[in-house]
Amino acid sequence: LRQAPLFSGLDDEAAESLGSKMTSGHLRRSEVLFHEGDEGDRLYIVTDGKIKLGRSSADGRENLLAILGPGQMFGELSLFDPGPRSATATAVTECELESLGHDELTKWLEEHPNVSRALLGQLASRLRRTNDVVADLVFSDVPGRVAKALMDLSNRFGRKADDGIHVHHDLTQEELAQLVGASRETVNKALADFAMRGWLRLEPRSVVIIEPDRLSKRAR
Ligand code: CMP
Repeated sequence: LRQAPLFSGLDDEAAESLGSKMTSGHLRRSEVLFHEGDEGDRLYIVTDGKIKLGRSSADGRENLLAILGPGQMFGELSLFDPGPRSATATAVTECELESLGHDELTKWLEEHPNVSRALLGQLASRLRRTNDVVADLVFSDVPGRVAKALMDLSNRFGRKADDGIHVHHDLTQEELAQLVGASRETVNKALADFAMRGWLRLEPRSVVIIEPDRLSKRAR
């Protein structure tokens, strides 16, 4: 539990007390945990695997708000701003989760102001990131957004090796396009162009970044 940034500042006693209130769960790949619009009463923390948070338009198109990995939390908006779930949560890979009921969490937060502060910090950084995404949608072209999404995935899921940074993102090309907010064709074209320049190598559900500096520059 303490590997999650939210709870990293807890002492043994607090971690134990919180741990005893949490429920463990498992999701199979592609399993939906909850749908946008559902009533929400729990906060989740990913302990293993990846979760995607997405919304769909009236005509059935999908947009991915975020891909979350181990240590990250979700399901807090419907607690602090009571209302339906703001996105659908689906397992990208097999997942292990811990969860806590909103009522229990509220009581617990009152006794642990440092965790409340950490939670506010995470909400603030999520808002910061969302502002960046909105600005990129307005100001950046698709290749720039693809480069940015790849660098973000690389920073969180990448592993350095002799031949580059191996980013096992587990996403299909369709999901990558939904994350960038562009059509699959334009996203594929941008990826193929980066590959042709020798900046990266494409593999199924993963990418090897060979020239991170060039890709970062393209992301700006
Ligand atoms: P909730 O609305 O309870 O259920 C869906 C969850 O998706 C939401 O809480 C947040 O935890 C998460 N979420 C919604 N929007 C974003 C976003 N832009 N970035 C990251 N996570 C989000």
